[in-house]
Amino acid sequence: MSHFCPEYPRPRSRRAANWLMFFSARRSWLDTLYERSYRMQMGEVHLPGLDLYMVNEPGLVKRVMTEEAQAFPKSPLLGNALRPLLGDSIFTTNGDQWRRQREMMDPAFEQARLGVAFPVMREATNAMLERLARVADGTEHDIEVEMTHVTADIIFRTIFSVPLEGADAHRVFDAFARFQALAPRLLLPSIYGVRWLVWPWDVWRSRRAAREIRGLLEQLIRPRFDAHRQGRPGSEVDILASFLEAREASTGEPFGFEELVDQVAMLFLAGHETSASALTWAAYLLARSPGIQERMHDEVRSALGERQAESGDMKRLTLTWNVFRETLRLFPPVGFMARQSAKTCPMRDKTVPAGASVVIAPWLIHRHRDLWQDPDAFDPDRYDDDQSRESLKQAYLPFGMGPRVCMGAAFALQEAALILSSLVRHYRLSVVPGHVPQPVGRLTIRSANGVRLRLERRSPA
Ligand code: HEM
Repeated sequence: MSHFCPEYPRPRSRRAANWLMFFSARRSWLDTLYERSYRMQMGEVHLPGLDLYMVNEPGLVKRVMTEEAQAFPKSPLLGNALRPLLGDSIFTTNGDQWRRQREMMDPAFEQARLGVAFPVMREATNAMLERLARVADGTEHDIEVEMTHVTADIIFRTIFSVPLEGADAHRVFDAFARFQALAPRLLLPSIYGVRWLVWPWDVWRSRRAAREIRGLLEQLIRPRFDAHRQGRPGSEVDILASFLEAREASTGEPFGFEELVDQVAMLFLAGHETSASALTWAAYLLARSPGIQERMHDEVRSALGERQAESGDMKRLTLTWNVFRETLRLFPPVGFMARQSAKTCPMRDKTVPAGASVVIAPWLIHRHRDLWQDPDAFDPDRYDDDQSRESLKQAYLPFGMGPRVCMGAAFALQEAALILSSLVRHYRLSVVPGHVPQPVGRLTIRSANGVRLRLERRSPA
């Protein structure tokens, strides 16, 4: 059976000149890819300010990300672009500073905490359903806006125990959208060694957006930080409470205020931007695959009947998991991960110099012509097959791997299963004729023209 292949930027037949790649990448880094990018084991690009190596071969990916992770710390490029918003957050730090932050933050993501997070996720998902009930009557709807709202609301409630709504929600979404759109314009000139091409006006706008977001977060963190320091810890069981309690193992020191704001800002960004991207694509893929959507609806109905979802139900939704797993393969929100080689090292037939950037791109690995069968097709049933299970082991890393693997993976999977199952349980999703989303690579993989769908309410069983 042939499966639906969602549209994505058609790769160029051959590599373009550097200046052309620069201008393409300003819009989307996906536009710089060419046919061989999806077939090669390893490639290299040399720019005036940078040596860059792309690594696709599974053995090498494992070496960079896991076996020799210390020799390949995070590249400073992305960190510099995100610093105004995230400061020295765990996403970009390295060495002892990163290790200390990870140890202090890990307890907030232990398995037991997921059980506590589930009712919070359900409240936010119910709030989404109420919002949709007011507007979703078969007319067009930009699903990306709704997925951003619900995931931001979930991470906000999980961090602070309060919902994100009203004017604050709109201010934050607007500031994030501006920050996200400006990120490539600040990042690319550094990559291409032409920093003088960064417009001061863009720097100013990006810093202003970052200040707005951090300002809102500081307002929420300050009173609880001060109260905690004065011996009044509060009764909340949320991520902020866990961070306030966290102590460095050797010194017993807690997070200082600025460092705490850095971590919270990072969690807020990492915790909703990625999930919103993946859920938006999942909704689109389901709208394009009515047969799979009906099967998923039946699965959810028979697992839950008329009652509300409980955390234990999620693992029984096999097709729902596979739909999300397949979405993360085709549209991995973190399309690439950048490392820096700490020393000169051999790789295949090449010598990677110290200081070079080593890029691992789930976007390419998940669609690699030799690593996956029918790589561009949306086929959630592929995971029943032995060959695809092998590909899953070798060539699937939407959450990264090794010591820097995503801290929120289990959180994200639980949240996605709940949101997707709730959506399909109550609505029939269908495409808007003539509207084809255009994937673009920015901070995450988004659509340049939004993702418009029709949502039609299903009648009760
Ligand atoms: C579908 C959703 C998500 C995807 C695809 C995703 C993907 C990733 C990836 C690929 C990395 C590793 C980046 C690298 O190695 O360079 C990462 C790191 C991280 N993610 Fe996620 N993420 C998701 C959701 C979340 C959520 C919901 C949270 C928190 C609630 C979160 C928190 C983090 C943190 C803290 C790190 C940094 C870990 C470290 O460097 O030690 N992520 N994520």
